[in-house]
Amino acid sequence: MIVTTNELFRLAYGKYAVGAYNINNLEQAVGLFRGNLAKPDSNDQPADEAKSAPFILQISRGARAYTDKRFLEAIIRAAEQVFPEAIFAVHLDHGTEEVCYDCIDSGFYSSVMIDASHEVFEENVAITKRVVERAHEKGVVVEAELGQLGGVEEDIEGSVCLTDPSQAAEFVERTGCDSLAVAIGTSHGAYKFQGSQALRLDRLAEIQRILPERFPLVMHGASSVLKEWVDRINQAGGQIEGASGVAEDQYLPAANLGVCKINIDTDGRLVWCAIYRESFRDKPADFDPRTPGKRFMPEYARYIMHKNTQLGSAGQLETVREALGAGSAA
Ligand code: G3H
Ligand code: 13P
Ligand code: ZN
Repeated sequence: MIVTTNELFRLAYGKYAVGAYNINNLEQAVGLFRGNLAKPDSNDQPADEAKSAPFILQISRGARAYTDKRFLEAIIRAAEQVFPEAIFAVHLDHGTEEVCYDCIDSGFYSSVMIDASHEVFEENVAITKRVVERAHEKGVVVEAELGQLGGVEEDIEGSVCLTDPSQAAEFVERTGCDSLAVAIGTSHGAYKFQGSQALRLDRLAEIQRILPERFPLVMHGASSVLKEWVDRINQAGGQIEGASGVAEDQYLPAANLGVCKINIDTDGRLVWCAIYRESFRDKPADFDPRTPGKRFMPEYARYIMHKNTQLGSAGQLETVREALGAGSAA
């Protein structure tokens, strides 16, 4: 069942964060649904309620353009039928104004992110407000961003510029956005920190204090870039040096401070890269596209289950179902 992100945030606020996972293809979609239903090995395995989680499936502009946006939408529609127990939001990641309108008008997305964080404050407010007005008319909720992460956001190269708490309060009030992505020291990609971890939970606490009560916050650039996966990639011929991510033990403290959505893309790419490299290394004579795919889907599902445990969302699916009055999906 597709719901809005804010329906999930209301239930998660202060207790856990909902995982927001980017996908680009069929294998990632299947692994994602199986992982959130804690049935990694087959679509037909019964879901494990004690580990199942609500989730956010996010689609970037790059993912929409990779083949044709209609292919991804069709995959998700099919997944909804194959996995009727799933409760999830379909979210546009880092949208421009034009792409937000396309998604809002499509009737398929329950949530969009307008990312005008690279604009000056007044322009960010104006663009975000326009998107919010158009989205709310159609029952779609809006995530906006204030402050800039380090690293690369699609074609925008941002240098870290932490979110200013007092600006955040004004921004939320003037735009009417439903959730806010804040810059608290993370960056996109696999090279987040030089030296020690530098997540600014103190800044997050200040932002939470100044915003309206229970206002949902979002953490981008939150992959943990686990050493296990980087090592597996390198052992299978990769060359990823000096990678580092957000320590997983920071997720729950961030959730306690109002972060309801934690964005993970890079980690999924690392799992994909490790498994495909290992598959080609182990079976050099095999050229069946299904061979690495069959290895990847359960491994990715297990990775999602691990991640949901760290986020605190594992085991929350039935509570969410009851609270939303969604009834049994079987
Ligand atoms: O924030 C960026 C996301 O990781 C999406 O990346 O634009 O390469 O799909 P992408
Ligand atoms: P990572 O690069 O840390 O996975 O962040 C993804 C993200 O923020 C997508 O919007
Ligand atoms: Zn992001």
